[in-house]
Amino acid sequence: VKPENNCIVIFGASGDLTHRKLIPAFYHLFANGLLSEEFAILGVSRTHYSDTEFQQKLKESLTANEKVDPQVLDAFCQRLHYQAIDTKSVEDYAKLKMRLDDIEQKCQTKGNTTFYLATPPSLYSVIPECLAAHGLNNEHNGWKRLIVEKPFGYDLATAEQLDKDLHAHFQEHQIYRIDHYLGKETVQNLLVFRFANTMFEPLWNRNFIDYVEITAAEFLGVEERGGYYDGAGAVRDMFQNHLLQVLAMVGMEPPAAINADSMRDEVMKVFKSLQPLSDNDLQNNLVLGQYTESDVRGNHLDGYREEPGVAEDSRTETYVGLKMFIDNWRWNGVPFYVRTGKRLPTRVTEVVIHFKKTPHPVFGADAPENKLIIRIQPDEGILMSFGLKQPGAGFEAKEVSMDFHYESLEETHMLTAYERLLLDSMKGDATLFARTDAVKACWQFVQPILDYKENPEHLYGYAAGTWGPKEADELLSRDGREWRFPC
Ligand code: BG6
Repeated sequence: VKPENNCIVIFGASGDLTHRKLIPAFYHLFANGLLSEEFAILGVSRTHYSDTEFQQKLKESLTANEKVDPQVLDAFCQRLHYQAIDTKSVEDYAKLKMRLDDIEQKCQTKGNTTFYLATPPSLYSVIPECLAAHGLNNEHNGWKRLIVEKPFGYDLATAEQLDKDLHAHFQEHQIYRIDHYLGKETVQNLLVFRFANTMFEPLWNRNFIDYVEITAAEFLGVEERGGYYDGAGAVRDMFQNHLLQVLAMVGMEPPAAINADSMRDEVMKVFKSLQPLSDNDLQNNLVLGQYTESDVRGNHLDGYREEPGVAEDSRTETYVGLKMFIDNWRWNGVPFYVRTGKRLPTRVTEVVIHFKKTPHPVFGADAPENKLIIRIQPDEGILMSFGLKQPGAGFEAKEVSMDFHYESLEETHMLTAYERLLLDSMKGDATLFARTDAVKACWQFVQPILDYKENPEHLYGYAAGTWGPKEADELLSRDGREWRFPC
């Protein structure tokens, strides 16, 4: 089903997110015939461009970065419009309103409008207020939706304040909070894998699972984003949102149905069950690290403190590893070891489910344990490892695996995370968007880490291009376990 005719207003239209993610996503949705018959994109920012200049700029960046068909691209660019306003000036929104009326007439968008905040977070409270001052939040003539990008606040208190500000002008059903990890095909597949098969779900609990690893490793450092990152750190940038959402998908109970309410109710139950972090956890189960300069295969990699925009004496973490628990019937006592970092050896996001040993080790204590590796990216897929008889004399068990790679589904067009989420928001489906209570619960859980990291007793260095501080290995080795090191 295609979305209804609609118009997307992108605030921050000359910014990086618009060029790198949003416009390419809209282009591919358009090229694949997934958008409504009539739709318009209205770029908004302070810089002055004519419609033609804006179209030209985006055409150039799409041609340079994406595989495009020139004819489709021309047709797509016809849908692009531009309006310069000062986003902080409430009077200026009168221009926006006029422009929207005009587009509605011309493109039959029926008043259905999404406002996408691709701006610095400092504008997240200002823009909704200004829109409301001109009645642009009012749904009497078509729906009005607001898409907000992370960060949703800086800590629990600011997140609550932001939520109040948004709710002062938009109702919860109008607000779509993007966590692009939920848009990833393989994150959604966690649900299908778990709840569409009878084979795994009966084992998916404390009786059979020994521990769970969740890893989101990046090879890149902070690149050009040092200024932002130095004020955020890995806990805010990746852990509080993306990793906790993945954890919820691994840990949740089956929803009654796949719809926004049922799904998000189950996610919320996981967040409510997270065992709050004690002082002991902060001391012993949390590892914060920062990368230092090193040479990797003949290439010199700068240390974090040498990156542009980063303070020379920065104490910001670029790595976080945490052992945590979900206190509920299903997961009681099962540790979840979660880690993420920049400048690790490779880019990989995966979940590893480690099953318990068999009750009686007839084939020796070294017989392999069962593992299920869910590869979120890259080389998306699932790998199951188990023991098989080593051919030859005796009864020795050998570890073998069965795997499935998404790329073998050649005929399928995989939507990128932004394509999927933009499409869902245009259809009014909030299933894969973070709900207000979940965002708050995640902040509540991480707040002790945020307090601790203000002045961390331990911030361990790790050489750029390695798997993080050795203390992170000790987090598992103390429990007689070890991280899987994907290569
Ligand atoms: C973003 C973070 O939300 O996610 C970045 O701000 C990070 O720092 C990125 O690099 C990772 O996303 P992905 O899709 O590449 O895993």
